[in-house]
Amino acid sequence: MNIVYHEASRTFHLYNSCISYIMTILPNGQMGQLYFGKAVHPREDYSWLLEMVPRSMTSYIFEGERTFSLEHVRQEYGVYGSSDYRMPAVEILQENGSRISDFRYVSHTIQPGKPRLAGLPATYTEQDDEAMTLTLQLQDPVTGVSLSLLYTIFAQGGVLARSACFTNQGQESVHLLKAMSLCLDLPDHDYEWIQFSGAWARERHPRARALEQGIQSVGSMRGHSSHEHNPFLILKRPHADESQGEVLGFSLIYSGNFLAQAEVDTHDTTRVLLGIHPEWFDWKLEPGGSFQTPEAVMVYTDRGMNDLSQTFHRLYRTRLARGFWRDRQRPILINNWESTYFDFTEDKLLALAKTARDAGIELFVLDDGWFGKRCSDHAGLGDWTPNPERLPQGISGLARKIRDLGMDFGLWFEPEMVNKDSDLYRAHPDWILAVPERNQSHGRYQHVLDFSRKEVVDHIYAQMAEILKDGSVSYVKWDMNRSITECWSPALPADRQGEVFHRYILGVYDLYERLTQAFPQVLFESCASGGARFDPGLLYYAPQAWTSDDTDAVERLKIQYGTSYCYPVSSMGAHVSAVPNHQLHRVTPLHTRANVAFFGAFGYELDLNRLSQEELAQIRQQTAFMKQWRGLLQFGTFYRLESPFEGNTAAWMTVREDQAKAIVGWYRVLNTVTPPYTRLRLTGLDPDRLYTVTVREKNRAGRVVGQFYGDELMHAGLVTSDQSSGESLEGGEASCDFDSRLYILE
Ligand code: GLA
Repeated sequence: MNIVYHEASRTFHLYNSCISYIMTILPNGQMGQLYFGKAVHPREDYSWLLEMVPRSMTSYIFEGERTFSLEHVRQEYGVYGSSDYRMPAVEILQENGSRISDFRYVSHTIQPGKPRLAGLPATYTEQDDEAMTLTLQLQDPVTGVSLSLLYTIFAQGGVLARSACFTNQGQESVHLLKAMSLCLDLPDHDYEWIQFSGAWARERHPRARALEQGIQSVGSMRGHSSHEHNPFLILKRPHADESQGEVLGFSLIYSGNFLAQAEVDTHDTTRVLLGIHPEWFDWKLEPGGSFQTPEAVMVYTDRGMNDLSQTFHRLYRTRLARGFWRDRQRPILINNWESTYFDFTEDKLLALAKTARDAGIELFVLDDGWFGKRCSDHAGLGDWTPNPERLPQGISGLARKIRDLGMDFGLWFEPEMVNKDSDLYRAHPDWILAVPERNQSHGRYQHVLDFSRKEVVDHIYAQMAEILKDGSVSYVKWDMNRSITECWSPALPADRQGEVFHRYILGVYDLYERLTQAFPQVLFESCASGGARFDPGLLYYAPQAWTSDDTDAVERLKIQYGTSYCYPVSSMGAHVSAVPNHQLHRVTPLHTRANVAFFGAFGYELDLNRLSQEELAQIRQQTAFMKQWRGLLQFGTFYRLESPFEGNTAAWMTVREDQAKAIVGWYRVLNTVTPPYTRLRLTGLDPDRLYTVTVREKNRAGRVVGQFYGDELMHAGLVTSDQSSGESLEGGEASCDFDSRLYILE
């Protein structure tokens, strides 16, 4: 890994063994982009990569010269209005009404490691030799606004982290109307664009299409990253697949409104932009003021999408997530939500906990309904004091009883919200985001607290810290169940209302930071009506997230498969729930529900006391299996093998770092009669190692199917054919709809 500046050619080269990133100072002092891709030889001069030709209807920068137009050179941080007509990375409104800016190179620094971004989640290093950072200092000579562009290259993997920081060194206030985290101009458009989209209960389904001339984009204007679109984008070469070919990934470490966009001009170059959504964004920069954008991470590989995902997994699991739980196996939990909803008493909870303990479950999580007057979703949010009618000895009393059973205790909060029927709202009706004299839209009867105000965050912190301070709560599920409307804060003047969305998220990060610092051993799981804020920003504080409110095993195959393109298995909260499933009313076998959820932060969310002894015995086997294998399941190298979006079967696998062990998950949606022979080609194994393969089918313990070399399993494949034609096996069980198997390789 190195970052080199060549004075003669005014060129920067950031490289490691995987990638090269090359920039140059353009003739007008702005920064130009020359190359991002597979590592190339270090040289002093790459000026051949800077092409300039005269074209009709083009405008030029220099008087009397007809080649240098910003329209036709690839820029590092594009500006609009001075010969570039593409969508810009930055827009600054000045006191005279002009929006032109011209950021020219002034100086640069190269340093080992990576600086932190104040108040924002970001990737980090633990040792200085893990990464190097280049900071380019640019300045607009007219406004005096300076711009620092930060680039961190990591020693490992094709990763580059980027952000921008503006400081107003001029005499007049300006308004930052657009400040993207990343702008990347690519020389062609021969890519497929893949976005991760959905809705409540069907989050992060991959959607692909060819990149075309014009603008394609996804984003969120909901105040959170959203169920609808994830702040993650893949551009892959048309022939690239999971195991080979060039792929680029772009991920924004942010939890609020975002825009991910690709613009292909009519000369087929592509500009990628990623950052805070410019719509409704307006940050006033007074003289001396600064604005730091969130961080964006870009990854390049020529080894296909599994390699891209593994690069993100490694980085986000080990150098974005932090704290006590980062590298620790996650406790098997039981959450009471789908078993009781709001209808519980302490006795009912303890009865559930006792059965859970006997089934091998380690952590009991009390979900919504324990506080204030919260007996339905109409009341109580904002009042984080235990309801004495339900919990006579409070949270600590219940937690003690749970601990006496030998389990840990966890608790649900929704810190950012308030019901109008709450003491908090009655005391502070002006603490919600709302526009005076206008309608106040609700979502699930709740309103959004104005987290742009420190006193609001302080108040919620005090209430939560009061509950957490005696140490009886070892896990917190932090929920967020509505999108923001009427975004306006009485605490800010008119010309700063465009800051509220971002200040809100900074308030969320501040509360997370204070709680995680004060209670470092508490495991935080983020949640937003399932996966509406499953984003890298929150992974910095909470190493796991509730992946989706949809707990149906077949739907979860798709959701977890889609989520795995960017996010590690250890971050995906995944529970076994009741049948008929509460979201879809589908009945799937218990073994399949577990076989899907094992690839995640595993738990249960159903009334165990309504199960048969046989089912409980099966759950005991499942928890024992998970305890034996969770290191590999949660922290192994994850490979997607067969997509649930493409056929009736799906498969994935995880491989231990030393390749000595692996687990394959194989799933079939509908049963088939007299099916063909089938094989599954595995990957990531040691070709020369002899693996003993054990299959776990249905409710039977593992059965050895044979010993095979890694190369046989990878090239000839693992036989997955049914051993019967739909009839009952002699002494065994017939295959069924929604069937699945796990193959253990040792
Ligand atoms: C959201 C969460 C659920 C549950 C409920 C409680 O929907 O996603 O898991 O916690 O809120 O109200």
